[in-house]
Amino acid sequence: MNAQVPIEVGGMAAEALIDFIVSRFHAGHRAQLPELIRLSRRVEHVHAAHARCPEGLADELEAHLQELESHMLKEEQVLFPMLLRGMHGPARGPISVMMFEHEQHFDSMERIHLLANDLVLPEDACNTWRGLYEGLGIYARELTQHIHLENDVLFAQASQAVKGAQHA
Ligand SMILES: [Fe+2]
Ligand SMILES: [Fe+2]
Repeated sequence: MNAQVPIEVGGMAAEALIDFIVSRFHAGHRAQLPELIRLSRRVEHVHAAHARCPEGLADELEAHLQELESHMLKEEQVLFPMLLRGMHGPARGPISVMMFEHEQHFDSMERIHLLANDLVLPEDACNTWRGLYEGLGIYARELTQHIHLENDVLFAQASQAVKGAQHA
């Protein structure tokens, strides 16, 4: 998968940006995470006796998915429709809640990386274990880009619009 966001994304109108975020990142995470949970359960089960077994990783990923799912639903059902209607002022509250939750996603990714030994594989790792850590690396990059686009582009545009309206 190409993990690079096209550079012209910064100049996109809110509608195109939201479409891109939902179709690329929300849909992508919803496809990636259940597969990572499945791989993690398998590795934890098969290699339970291995000294480097990422014990507890699947449960942490499950909790992460639940937290992320409720966050993405709030964006899709509440915040993004407000931004599409140009309700930038009233969106300020929901935006600060979403930015706080983004910090929680990063905290949860730190716990995930800790459980997964910073994605360093043991020499005798099987293909499932390799696929799991590779997938976790890809997922972490996708999540970081997703949050960057929201915090620094979409939400930044909305707060610029509020400032512009105040000075008009
Ligand atoms: Fe999002
Ligand atoms: Fe978000």
